[in-house]
Parts: sequence; C-alpha cells; structure tokens
Amino acid sequence: MGRPAPGTLTVMCGIVGYVGAKPALSVVIDGLRRLEYRGYDSAGVAVLADDKLATAKRAGKLANLEAALAERSWPESSVGLGHTRWATHGPPNDPNAHPHVDCTGSVAVVHNGIIENFAALRTWLEGRGHELTSETDTEVVAHLLEEELHEAGGLAEAMRRICARLEGAFTLVAVHSEDPETVVGARRNSPLVVGRGDGENFLASDVAAFIAHTRQAVELGQDQVVELYRDRIAVTDFHGSPAPAREYHVDWDASAAEKGGYEYFMLKEIAEQPRAVAETLLGRVGEDGTLTLDEMRLSDDELRDIDKIVIVACGTAYHAGLIAKYAIEHWCRIPCEVELASEFRYRDPILDRSTLVIAISQSGETLDTLMAVNYAREQRSRVLAICNVNGSTIPRASDAVLYTHAGPEVGVAATKTFLTQLVACNLVGLYLAQVRGTKYGDEVIAVIHQLAAMPEKVEQVLGTVAPVRALAGSLADAKCVLFLGRHVGYPVALEGALKLKELAYMHAEAFAAGELKHGPIALIEDGLPVVVVVPPKRGRGPLHEKIVSNIQEIRARGARTIVIAEEGDDSVVGYADTLIAVPQAPTLLQPLVSTVPLQVFACELALAKGHDVDRPRNLAKSVTVE
Ligand code: AGP
Repeated sequence: MGRPAPGTLTVMCGIVGYVGAKPALSVVIDGLRRLEYRGYDSAGVAVLADDKLATAKRAGKLANLEAALAERSWPESSVGLGHTRWATHGPPNDPNAHPHVDCTGSVAVVHNGIIENFAALRTWLEGRGHELTSETDTEVVAHLLEEELHEAGGLAEAMRRICARLEGAFTLVAVHSEDPETVVGARRNSPLVVGRGDGENFLASDVAAFIAHTRQAVELGQDQVVELYRDRIAVTDFHGSPAPAREYHVDWDASAAEKGGYEYFMLKEIAEQPRAVAETLLGRVGEDGTLTLDEMRLSDDELRDIDKIVIVACGTAYHAGLIAKYAIEHWCRIPCEVELASEFRYRDPILDRSTLVIAISQSGETLDTLMAVNYAREQRSRVLAICNVNGSTIPRASDAVLYTHAGPEVGVAATKTFLTQLVACNLVGLYLAQVRGTKYGDEVIAVIHQLAAMPEKVEQVLGTVAPVRALAGSLADAKCVLFLGRHVGYPVALEGALKLKELAYMHAEAFAAGELKHGPIALIEDGLPVVVVVPPKRGRGPLHEKIVSNIQEIRARGARTIVIAEEGDDSVVGYADTLIAVPQAPTLLQPLVSTVPLQVFACELALAKGHDVDRPRNLAKSVTVE
C-alpha cells in the first residue's frame, strides 16, 4: 500500500493521561468516553504496571476497545494514557490506532495534530534500524523518544528534545516503563489541559475528560512540556526553563457533560438552548444601565478607531458570522465582511490596525480559524474571539474575548453554541454602537430587552416542535431538501442545510431566495421538499412579500413547501404544505427562533434513518487540522 501524504493520518483526536491512586485503566476509559466526540475511528490505551508497559488498541468506536480489554486480565496500574482517533486518509485500522510504541516496547505515545516532517524523520529512523509498523506520522515520535532516552536521562527531557525537531501542530502524551511515576505531555497549536486533583493529576484534550474527578484546571501555553506526578505537576518550555501556567476553576460540573436522561447529547443540547441564551446574556448590563462587556480587553478608543470589521469562522460559526453582519452594519455603520477562515489568509486580505477581526469558534481550537487569527495579528489588526471554551487556543491568541456561556457541547453538530454565538455577536454589535455613538443608550438597552425575551421564545418553539418530528419522519426517504431564505433568513437556511448534510447524510442546499430565478429554480420538481424561512412582516421593506412570491413560484412547479413563519402570519397559509409557526421576534433576532425547528428537523430525520446524531460519520467536533 502506498504511504499517505505527510500528516494525513492523525488529526483531531481525544487524549487522556492519568497519574494517581485510582485504577488508571478505568479513569482513562471513562475520560475517553467523554472525549469520543473528538474522534471515533479507533481507540487505544496504555498503562504502566510492575515496570512494564501494557497496551491495547482497536479500530472503530470505544466499545470495540472495551470488548478487547474484557478479553484478558489487566494489571493494577495508577499511570496510564488513552486516545480516540479521527483519521482523514488511510484506513482507521488496528495498526494505525494509538498508542504507538518504540522498538523496545517501553515507550507509548498518543498524538493529536500533524507532524509535518514525519516522512523525513521516518526515513532517518529507518536508516538507524528502527522498524515502524504503522502508516501514521505519530509513530516516529515513539522511536524518536527511544533515541533520545539513551542520553536525555528521563522522559520529560527526551520529550523536550524531540519537540524541537518536530514541525507542525501537535499534542503528545507519553509514558515510559522506566519512568513509572509519570506521564509527560507536550503541546504546540493543539489542545492539552491539566486537571489538578488531590493526590492525582490528569491530562486531556478537554476538561470534560476529568471533570468528574476535579474542576481545577491548568492551562498550558504553546511549546510547553508538562510532567505529571501524583502530587505535583511541572511545566517547562521546550528548552527546559520553568514556564508560567494559569490555573482556573471549571464553572460547570460533570452533569453538564452527561446525557441527563436524553438518548443523545444533541437532543439535550437542543433542549438546553433557552438556558444557554439566558446565561450568555447574564450580567451584561452595568449598574449605570449601559451595556458592559467585562472580558472585552479593547479600549473604547481602540474601538472608535475601527473602520472595518472582518468576521472569520468555519461551518456553523461562519453562519453565525453571516447573520451578525446584518446587525453590526445596521447598528454600527461599519463595513463588515464575513469570510471562511480557511480562505481568509490565502487571498491576501486588506487588513491594518483599524480593522477589527472577529473570530467565532465554539471550541476555540479550529485550526483554520486559529491560523486566520494569527495572520490578522501579524498584519497588526485587533482580534476579538467569540468562544465557548475557557482558556482554549483562539481566545489566547486574540487581543480580546467574549465567552458564550453555552456549557459543554458534546454532540458534533453545533446547536446551543450557535444560538449563543448569535447572542454574543449581537452584544458586540451593540457595544460598538454604544461606544461609537451610532445608537443612543436607550436604543441599545431596548435591544438588550428584546434579547432578554428570547429564551422564553426559544422555549416556546421547543414546546411546539412535535409536528416537525412527524414531518422529519415522513421525509426519511427524500433524496434532497432545499432551503431558501432572504436577509438573515438566508444564513439560517444555510445552517438548516448544513445540519441536514452532517446528520442525515442527505443532499441539502440553501439559496438566497432572490437567486432562485438565476438558476436553482430548475432543480424544483414534483414533491421536492423545500424549506422556506419567512422574515417577519414588520421587517425590512418588501422582503416578506418577495419571499411569499418565491414560495408561490416553487409551489407552482411542484415543490412540497415547508414554511417557517411567525405566528399570525396568515399570508403564507395558502402556500404552505407544512407550516411551522415560530414566535414573533424582531427581524434581526428572528434567527434565534427560526433556527431551532431546523435543528430538530435534521436531528429527527437523522434518527428516523437510524443515524448516531452525536457522532455523525466522518466528522469530529474540533477540527484541529487545516
Ligand atoms: C457544525 O454543526 C459543525 N460541527 C461545524 O461546522 C463547526 O461549526 C465548525 O467546525 C467550527 O467549529 P468551531 O466553532 O469549534 O470553530
């Protein structure tokens, strides 16, 4: 079999490391279960016991590994690590699963990210007689550690030395049977966080892995190595100098990352949306009655100097950015561009000190978005992150951050974090309008009050989605669904189509309704389901009547129309095969209610087709590769 291109095998994965008094194997497996959303192509563990290394790994979901573990007895151990993998190319088979071991079988390593120079390192290692048994970039790390351990006098120093030789983005966690008391980790542009417990310590890609044991976390910086012992942790840079590490308290508990009686995380996360929206709004109005954003580390003068805003993001977060553009330009009168983060830096964008770049990312780890942030800062633009994960990489690489308070989102499909991104974008737009004086104080507060009414409206939508479930069930065999919208309803349509693609694996496409006659209307045929997001009647000029005409045009050509419109909008009743009514909301805030039926629709349709909505095929929650 041909060798894959460098770095194409091991990308976004979940990592757990443990040292302590509890049985390491069960702590690690439990942690992997909570990280499985990061990748589920294969899983593996390694534990140290009696100065020996024991490993197991299996292709497929964690359940396969657990079945393999049950086939033999395992030594009692208090030091271990584990991995769940998401692969892009190459078979997700047993040999390519992590951990990888060196030739002596004494070092085990797991990895998230890409070792870009792995081909050259592999050739060098093979020249020195190492036998590599997988196709991964990761395996070179195990053998490099083997090389360095001869001279380095310990796993941590060996790790520091090899990191200096690695190119790319990586989190590495390793154990060595001759260092039986420790787990060593390293990171560059890839997530790794320490959980500080009482007589035990944890390493993980995400706090969810250890939140059941401790809520004290330690943030690691870029290019740092951490040594984990039962009673202490030591953090250094790649040269061995002690490095600062910020400790923080995780403000949600283990139950937030559990299903809480729901069959799927996604169902729970959809239901949590009213609370997530409310929490993101909490504490934003100061005693003087003005909007205050405490975490906004940009001065009012800096914000007044801005003459352009560029929003960068991927996937659902990009759709939040597209919606934000309407509000920001309307409220602040600043030109606002929205760009896919993966395209941004390659087109030579015009940026300078007076450009504000807003990076939206739920995870704070999406590599495309991170690279866009780094690029913008190199161009001396100011960067504001909108993020859901405290202490993650993107906020730390930015000048300022506004956290959404959605709580952990485990389902791969973004739901509650999308709504909270919309709220956060609105807050940023209103804050800019307040500082720059493009809106009076009472106008800003009036919108805040409208936002404060949204959790109840979202709750109302959730209470009336039963017909959406029935509709989804009836469309399980549809080949394709189209989505139409205008104004902010257009990005809502894009989001509806994305949800359907990723969960139901169906062809779904969204169009700005005004574009229909420029081509897409040729797609309409008898029975084709078309979802139309109708703006409020009271909204922007003739928008509403134009989309009602669009509905008539597609219906006349045989489309099965599924219309999302606000309660009391009788003008669409005659043209809707299915009418989904949402509570009345101001035009710019309507996406907070109109998106919810689309999430439910995609989720229920996927369930009707028998799919795992928490772990859709080929996807992972954090995309830490470009
Ligand atoms: C949405 O359902 C997706 N899972 C995906 O598009 C996601 O929004 C995108 O990968 C961006 O992730 P981020 O918000 O963590 O940066």
